[in-house]
Amino acid sequence: MRVLVTGSSGQLGKAVIEVFFKNDIDIYPISHTRLDITKRQAVEEIIRAYLPEVVINCSALTDVDLCEREKDRAYKVNALGPKNLAIVCEKYNIHLIHISTDYVFDGEKETPYIEFDKPNPINTYGKSKLEGEYFVESFSKSYSIVRTSWLYGDGDNFVKKIIERAKGEKILKVVDDQFGSPTYTYDLAMALLNIAKERAYGLYHCANKGVASRFEEAKFIVESLGLKVEVTPIKSNEYPTLAKRPKYTPLENYILELEGIFYARSWELAMEEFLRGKDV
Ligand SMILES: NC(=O)c1ccc[n+]([C@@H]2O[C@H](COP(=O)([O-])OP(=O)(O)OC[C@H]3O[C@@H](n4cnc5c(N)ncnc54)[C@H](OP(=O)(O)O)[C@@H]3O)[C@@H](O)[C@H]2O)c1
Repeated sequence: MRVLVTGSSGQLGKAVIEVFFKNDIDIYPISHTRLDITKRQAVEEIIRAYLPEVVINCSALTDVDLCEREKDRAYKVNALGPKNLAIVCEKYNIHLIHISTDYVFDGEKETPYIEFDKPNPINTYGKSKLEGEYFVESFSKSYSIVRTSWLYGDGDNFVKKIIERAKGEKILKVVDDQFGSPTYTYDLAMALLNIAKERAYGLYHCANKGVASRFEEAKFIVESLGLKVEVTPIKSNEYPTLAKRPKYTPLENYILELEGIFYARSWELAMEEFLRGKDV
């Protein structure tokens, strides 16, 4: 199988390259410096040059507050980028796997979201990602849209921030009223391998199992690493951010499991494995 990955220098992109390479897939990493997905002609030139069987779009503008500040840029990368990929993939008969987010939901539910729940994003990042999903669905016949949640791996993420802050501060104040499913990029990449092999068509949720608040996630990180810092809970209104965050967006991998494509492990098990590799 020949697989081209856009945004290959991002944290998910790196994990996909590693997992697919280990599994003997012909993989073509295309970083942002080589391809800006907002440029239709450039997208077409790269795809025509490699003619892969599958494209995995790991590129996005993922800084939620930056998306709020620069709305046009958010829509350009997160909506028009996938539109370009969908149009070109369709032209060359290529299966497109597009990554989306738990932030397409408003967070007002009290149990994990499944694929049949109605999106209702409350910030520009979520809105632009949802438009990206709609473009992929309408311009491509052969696609998988894979929503994930609270990613961490080799890159900038919440886990890295907590470890860095723990080195310089005695007390870490972390919000305990935002809930998600922390997800290891490596686990998501394993699921994407199965999705790519099966050309699993349609919309999927894919996150590590379970629910955590940011406070619980931070406490788990600090305790697992034996860091000498106190973690105290605060409320979101004590930590104002430019973009509003949804309160509760854990994902249930409902269709992935119903179709027998992938069974994720718990977020705690995945996080423990990730932290074992950390030298702090
Ligand atoms: N991070 C999370 O917590 C999270 C949660 C749910 C869903 N997701 C989704 O998961 C996917 C992967 O996220 P991630 O955490 O791996 O993000 P990431 O580490 O920020 O990587 C995104 C990559 O996209 C590249 N990029 C930005 N604009 C681009 C453009 N116009 N053309 C081509 N590439 C561009 C970035 O390059 P530069 O760095 O050079 O700009 C970066 O390498 C995204 O679709 C994201 O929406 C992420």
